[in-house]
Amino acid sequence: MLDSSGGISDPILTVDKVAKSFGGVQAVREVSLQVERGSIFSIIGPNGAGKTSLVNMISGFYKADQGSIKFDGTELIGRKPNGIAELGIARTFQNIALFRGLTVLDNLMLGRHVRMKSSVLSCFMYWGAAQKEEIHHRKRAEEIIDFLRISDLRRANTGELAYGLQKRVELGRALALDPTLLLLDEPMAGMNQEEKEDMVRYVLDVNAEFGTTIVLIEHDMGVVMDISDHIVVLDQGEKISDGTPEQVKADPAVIRAYLGASHLQE
Ligand SMILES: Nc1ncnc2c1ncn2[C@@H]1O[C@H](COP(=O)(O)OP(=O)(O)OP(=O)(O)O)[C@@H](O)[C@H]1O
Ligand SMILES: [Mg+2]
Repeated sequence: MLDSSGGISDPILTVDKVAKSFGGVQAVREVSLQVERGSIFSIIGPNGAGKTSLVNMISGFYKADQGSIKFDGTELIGRKPNGIAELGIARTFQNIALFRGLTVLDNLMLGRHVRMKSSVLSCFMYWGAAQKEEIHHRKRAEEIIDFLRISDLRRANTGELAYGLQKRVELGRALALDPTLLLLDEPMAGMNQEEKEDMVRYVLDVNAEFGTTIVLIEHDMGVVMDISDHIVVLDQGEKISDGTPEQVKADPAVIRAYLGASHLQE
C-alpha cells in the first residue's frame, strides 16, 4: 500500500543508509528501504550483490558500519541476534542451519527457545511451572509441524531427511519463534520444481494465515515476480531499483545489472 506521496503507509521495518564493508569490499553501500507491514518483500540481485549481508545486519549477525535499522520504531543496530529474535524477527539461512543429529520436533523446540521463560535454574525451583511451559511450547511446535505437513517425520533424524524437507524443517524452526517478521535467505535454492511449488505455497500461507511480514531473498525470478508485493534490487552493494514487480521488471537499470536479461522474462 502506497500513500499519496508514494511512501509506505505502515512500515514494520525501516532501513536507512545502512553500509557494511569487509576490508576493501563494500558489501552494502548506504542502502535504504521500507517494508510494509504484512507484505511479501523481496530482495533480488546478482551473486555478491549484498543481499545476505543486508539480512545479516537486520538479524544482528553483522553489525552495520553506519545507518539505522528500525523494527516497529526500535533500533536494531547494536543488538545481538538473540535480542533481535526476542523482538519477533526470525530467519532462515542460505545454507541449511539445523541440528542434524536431532529430531524434527527437537529442532522446532530449539527454535522456540527465546520464547521460553524457564531457565535451567528456575526449572529446579518451579518445576511445575516449567513443565506447564514445556507442554505449551510443545503444542505450538506440533501445530507448526502439522501446518508444514511433516507430522509423520516429527521423530525423524533431521540430518537424514531429503534436502527439500530439511529446508521445510528450517522454515519450521523459524516459524517456531512465532515471528512478526520472517527473513528467508533463498528458501528455494537447490530445490526441484515440485519442492519449490510447495515452499511457495507455505510462504504464501504463512503470510496470509499468520499475517507474518516476509522479507525474501530469491534468485528464481518467476517466483519473485509472482508472489512479491514489493521488490528491491541490489547490485554490487547498491540499491538500483525499488518498486512493484511490474516497475522493477521494466527498469532498464535492473535489466543492465542482470547480464542475462532473459532472467526477467517469465
Ligand atoms: N563475512 C564476510 N567476510 C568477508 N566478506 C564478506 C562477508 N560476507 C559477505 N562478504 C562479501 O560481501 C559481498 C556481498 O556478499 P553477500 O553474501 O551479501 O552477497 P549476496 O547478494 O547474498 O550473494 P549470493 O546471491 O551469492 O548469495 C561479497 O563480495 C562477499 O564476498
Ligand atoms: Mg546470499
